[in-house]
Amino acid sequence: MNERLLRGRTLSFVRRPEARDDHASYVFEEDGALLLADGRITAAGSYDEVIGKAPAGVEVIDHRPHLLMAGFIDPHIHFPQMQVTASYAANLLEWLNTYTFVEEQRFADSAHAERFATLFFDELLRNGTTTAAAYCSVHKGSADAYFAEAARRNLLMIGGKVMMDRNAPEALTDTARSGYDDTKSVISDWHGKARNHVAITPRFAITSTPAQLEAAGALAREHPDLLIQTHLSENHAEIAYTLELYPEAKDYTDIYSRYGLLTEKALLGHAIHLSDREMAAIAEAGAVAVHCPTSNLFLGSGLFDLQRIRTSGVRTAMATDIGGGSSYSMLRTLDEAYKIQQLRGFRVSPLESFWQATRGNGEALGLAGRIGTLEPGTDADIIALDAAATPAMAIRMETVTTLEEELFLLQTLGDDRSISKVYVAGEPVSTE
Ligand code: GUN
Ligand code: ZN
Repeated sequence: MNERLLRGRTLSFVRRPEARDDHASYVFEEDGALLLADGRITAAGSYDEVIGKAPAGVEVIDHRPHLLMAGFIDPHIHFPQMQVTASYAANLLEWLNTYTFVEEQRFADSAHAERFATLFFDELLRNGTTTAAAYCSVHKGSADAYFAEAARRNLLMIGGKVMMDRNAPEALTDTARSGYDDTKSVISDWHGKARNHVAITPRFAITSTPAQLEAAGALAREHPDLLIQTHLSENHAEIAYTLELYPEAKDYTDIYSRYGLLTEKALLGHAIHLSDREMAAIAEAGAVAVHCPTSNLFLGSGLFDLQRIRTSGVRTAMATDIGGGSSYSMLRTLDEAYKIQQLRGFRVSPLESFWQATRGNGEALGLAGRIGTLEPGTDADIIALDAAATPAMAIRMETVTTLEEELFLLQTLGDDRSISKVYVAGEPVSTE
């Protein structure tokens, strides 16, 4: 057994915080410890308690005064868009056509995809993200490169070969048949191999014919345990065009519903402009609205209405959406999400933000028993967070007296520099 003990200020959520001072929503130990063995957390609690359970001579790594938390989870990101981020466009459709659909064609080349798989996971880990749900490109080889690299690093990663058979350059389209067949191959090659999870990934209704959405629905029926990821109601022009392509549908959400894609496994990227009927349908299906704040601001897509989503009973997640998004950091993402709600007159508590980036996103992915907390029995994907990582943070930290203030400081001023250490399945990783 490869055991080690991490000592630090441990923070783990037990449920969504209902108020800014909801202290029952988390477990915090000022002098805490985690015992790790065989990729899992085997004991958690105060240092005195956990050291008593550890074998004599166990390796102890002291992270105090840093916070030890579950690694961040990014439930919506595009693997082939590292070189799309920071592209100057007026809106979503212009951005897709001018930059994104050009760049993604390069992932037809396996050597290119392999190079970027390395760069992609390096960047996620530098930002403390230990699990992501990613869209690969339309090419099966891009999913192969993604999952092979995730397996090599023993990372728990979710991904899918994008299905898209129209309204994109020829070199970036599959067919209803090949999209189905290639997804089947990706599932049999990678799902459940190492820590990999495959997601059924029809890009969005604009780039899928009815026949392809039918095929995606068949995949969802044949593999009910798999996540489904797609985009929904991000931008007004996108919505208008979508409804022209599917004139029989009641609304955008109804398109996915008709093809059996609106289920509790569905991760609906953006979900900004929704009618009451759509909110109710999404809530009833148990699907997840994935908020992507830096992307929504960058592309000018709209201001996600978190309060309305909540009162409608819709499950939520929060993600970077690189390359529409402008930061790989979940700390930057939490900050921008906070500011969007400020503009809407709704204040999100720091406890809720950090719950969302860890346990909340884990629950949205249906993986709360494995990732997103520091509970014994879960996978040992852990980060150490430094709230005094920069001179400006260190100065502000001098006046911080509570955990909530420290979290808010991390969220407001923090970024990759605040990630002082990352453990994947119990092993320290280099993020140099
Ligand atoms: N809608 C369809 N594809 C995409 C994409 O790659 N990024 C974003 N932000 N929206 C999309
Ligand atoms: Zn996206």
